[in-house]
Amino acid sequence: MKIHDKEFEIFIAHEELQEKIAITAAEINMDYHDKEVHFISILNGAFMFSADLFKNITVPCYMHFLKVRSYEGTQSSGAVSNIIGLTDSMEHKHVIILEDIVDTGATMQHVYREIAKLNPASIKVASLLLKPDAYGGDIKINYLCYSIPNKFVLGYGLDYDGLGRNLKDIYQLKS
Ligand code: IMP
Ligand code: MG
Repeated sequence: MKIHDKEFEIFIAHEELQEKIAITAAEINMDYHDKEVHFISILNGAFMFSADLFKNITVPCYMHFLKVRSYEGTQSSGAVSNIIGLTDSMEHKHVIILEDIVDTGATMQHVYREIAKLNPASIKVASLLLKPDAYGGDIKINYLCYSIPNKFVLGYGLDYDGLGRNLKDIYQLKS
């Protein structure tokens, strides 16, 4: 499949994603069985993962959105900018940050620090994907669906210069 100037091939099929996300949600349901969870979804990329995970959550839960940007084309720029902030207080709340992919970790580091300043009761991180070979952060990814090779991926919310977010499956850049 061609998106902009690049060729992509299928990497993780939609059905497989759904199964894995349901398992991750079950872990969260168990860990938070006596609590309320405040999910903070990092826009734009995490919207599909957030929606599918959220549908599998059975404990009382809220969804909030934060907008950040760190990517240019197929390379992480390292500089995280442009936060459209939270409108609700996170004080004494149990927060789980939802990310589509943790690559260098710059975005997660930035968001985690911002949320920590809001004095929540706890912060955990859930990510659909992690590129361990690119990750240089020290924040623990508490709930992870997939560790993947250090190759550009798109689909299921993830984009290449704006395109590809609508794809049901995850695709990988053809080498
Ligand atoms: P990081 O700050 O380098 O960890 O990059 C994280 C952000 O960049 C994620 O929230 C994604 O939106 C985007 N990103 C990282 N890797 C990819 C990729 O392979 N495809 C599409 N977007 C990506
Ligand atoms: Mg993102």
